[in-house]
Amino acid sequence: MMLSGKRILLIISGGIAAYKSLDLIRRLRERGAAVRPVMTAGAQQFVTPLAVGALAADHVFTEIFSREDEQDVGHIRLARDCDLVLVAPATADLMAKMANGLADDLASTVLLATDRPVLVAPAMNPVMWSAAATRRNVEQLKADGIRFIGPAAGEMAESGEAGVGRMAEPLDIVASVERLLDNGPKPLAGRTAIVTSGPTHEPIDPVRYIANRSSGRQGHAIAAALAALGADVTLVSGPVTIPDPAGVTTIHVERAEEMRDAVISRLPADIAVMVAAVADWRVAAASGQKIKKQPGEAPPPLMLTENPDILKTVGHHGQRPRLVVGFAAETQSVEENGRAKLTRKGADMIVANDVSPETGIMGGTRNRVKIIARDGVSDWPDMGKDEVAEKLALLIAEKLKATGGKA
Ligand code: CTP
Repeated sequence: MMLSGKRILLIISGGIAAYKSLDLIRRLRERGAAVRPVMTAGAQQFVTPLAVGALAADHVFTEIFSREDEQDVGHIRLARDCDLVLVAPATADLMAKMANGLADDLASTVLLATDRPVLVAPAMNPVMWSAAATRRNVEQLKADGIRFIGPAAGEMAESGEAGVGRMAEPLDIVASVERLLDNGPKPLAGRTAIVTSGPTHEPIDPVRYIANRSSGRQGHAIAAALAALGADVTLVSGPVTIPDPAGVTTIHVERAEEMRDAVISRLPADIAVMVAAVADWRVAAASGQKIKKQPGEAPPPLMLTENPDILKTVGHHGQRPRLVVGFAAETQSVEENGRAKLTRKGADMIVANDVSPETGIMGGTRNRVKIIARDGVSDWPDMGKDEVAEKLALLIAEKLKATGGKA
């Protein structure tokens, strides 16, 4: 069984989605995990400790100041005697506490005291999920290394309102737990992959540069997802503010030419996923000195020249990876432009998305993509960039298997 011997501390906080936690406990135990539940006061308004304890076959911890519980296990041991802390459902309130280090009940204290990986499955009303405060807290938690699964888009259980905020389904949470505990399948073991991510910075002079709005989130997530499936991944990243993914070799570059050189130096490889928003042009003759304003003179003209197309270079290279995947950031005719790119760049697959400003995709944490391959197009629903990455990594593993053999 995939989770046998694993100990999961499951924190249930107070949302209607707590009813799904009962099924989640069953699913985790079916796979051999031991589940130790902690419930907030809010959670106990939705499901009873009796039901939770019966399904978990363990004591349910609810009180920070319970002499009995403290003698039995103690909140510090509770926080550490496990392989993973899973928060499902995680309310906006509990995430706000986590992001700020508050510890005023057992759940938040355990979360502050733990040194184990923490996986959070948020569930809340869509307006609460998109509220500025929640956005800030989620960003903070991600920067702190907390992992997320969901929320998904769909109808809310209590209000019928639609939008993003539904807790991920128990089986998806279980799959995410397995990946985090590194117990998932490793279909890419023995494969090498190169991923580009982020923007490039093309210098104008020593202090100025041309850039774009890419955050690197999607590319970094793909590098991590390929590594989670067992691939040996090199990430070539332009300047970004997000951390290097764990378990991946990251090479930092600034300019498109540096990015190309780094990518080519890692060939041969089995897989190339070119996600970077490479600047199409660079300044033809970047100045070695800061360009000064000259009183009474017109602004200096910027002469541009074309950058190397890294995807196209890789797609037509003598050591072309077996699977070459590109991205297409479009603001119109997404599918048509994506198809044209597939052919022009020599890719096997193009992940196309609409980056019109109103979609909030560029720089944001969510994505909605179309997968354009030679044999057809599929539309993926709106999901987090981490989920796009996981699905894409699985698809890559499948395609590679279908083409057979090793590169
Ligand atoms: N790409 C690349 N090197 C470049 C430009 C793009 O490797 N110099 C890659 C990107 O990483 C992405 C794909 O090519 O995988 C699509 O890039 P995009 O800029 O959207 O396409 P272009 O070829 O520039 O086409 P257009 O400007 O018409 O959109």
